[in-house]
Amino acid sequence: MSHYECAIIGAGNIGLAIAGGLVEKGIYTPGQIMLTRRHDKYLQPWREKGYGAGSDNLAAVRQGAVIIVAVEPAQIDRLLEEIAGELREGRHTLISVVTGVSTEHIRDVIKKDVPVVRAMPNTAIAIGQSMTCLCAQPADRTALEEAARLFRAVGQTEIIDEELMGSATALAACGLAFFMRAIRAASQGGVEIGFHASQALRIAAQTARGASSLLLENKHHPEFEIDKVTTPRGVTISGLNQMEHDGFSSAMIKGIVTSAEKAARLHKKQND
Ligand SMILES: NC(=O)c1ccc[n+]([C@@H]2O[C@H](COP(=O)([O-])OP(=O)(O)OC[C@H]3O[C@@H](n4cnc5c(N)ncnc54)[C@H](OP(=O)(O)O)[C@@H]3O)[C@@H](O)[C@H]2O)c1
Repeated sequence: MSHYECAIIGAGNIGLAIAGGLVEKGIYTPGQIMLTRRHDKYLQPWREKGYGAGSDNLAAVRQGAVIIVAVEPAQIDRLLEEIAGELREGRHTLISVVTGVSTEHIRDVIKKDVPVVRAMPNTAIAIGQSMTCLCAQPADRTALEEAARLFRAVGQTEIIDEELMGSATALAACGLAFFMRAIRAASQGGVEIGFHASQALRIAAQTARGASSLLLENKHHPEFEIDKVTTPRGVTISGLNQMEHDGFSSAMIKGIVTSAEKAARLHKKQND
């Protein structure tokens, strides 16, 4: 029987991004990862790269050690009921990246004493640049630390209280899309002032990378860095203030709050 270090059940957008990132960073070889989805023909390119791939979730759990569940929230209960019989204490750790489904709920469904960790990565995990928030119940502290070590190999991590997982979804997982849209908007502005689309996008994306690297590497506050760019009566402050008059910060804050509220509603619906 094959043995896999990691089985990713629900190998869609985030499941495949996790697999790609873990391999890219040398944590696992493709042959140590088993991927499943119901329509497994879509996994053919991954099979060709050497990953285990199929639609048999029970076999994946039987042969796996770290089990990462990455299906949509509406699909998780049926999946957990399906695989529960194959989960073994002392062998398996279950990591769920599913939005809005609590560790308590997962435990209630599986009715097994295997460690359960929740993780909220984003798709930049595929290139080792995720921001992943993690939580677990106190009894699963060891598994939580092991999971955090795994995700630290593919980005930065933050261990948080479970009540903040909805907020983590909004700020870090949805956040990736928010910053993408901000970069797209900047590049569209760039085209209007004379750059070709590809040039504008490259300039905007690299400028965004520079901005975030300054904050992450120097641990400075954004306003400290902004003060260095804004000359009195200068061009930067004029543009910045115009954006604020049009609600730039307010739009970002409202979007994040809206996403967090929706993530919290998903959680509540799941537990009703
Ligand atoms: N996308 C993100 O950036 C992101 C980030 C963090 C967390 N998440 C969370 O991760 C979860 C997945 O999101 P996603 O964007 O990756 O969705 P997705 O692309 O739709 O992936 C879900 C995958 O699960 C598979 N699946 C469904 N039922 C299954 C079953 N019974 N057994 C095996 N595979 C099954 C689906 O394929 P088949 O239909 O072929 O089975 C699909 O490929 C969601 O809960 C989401 O909230 C997503």
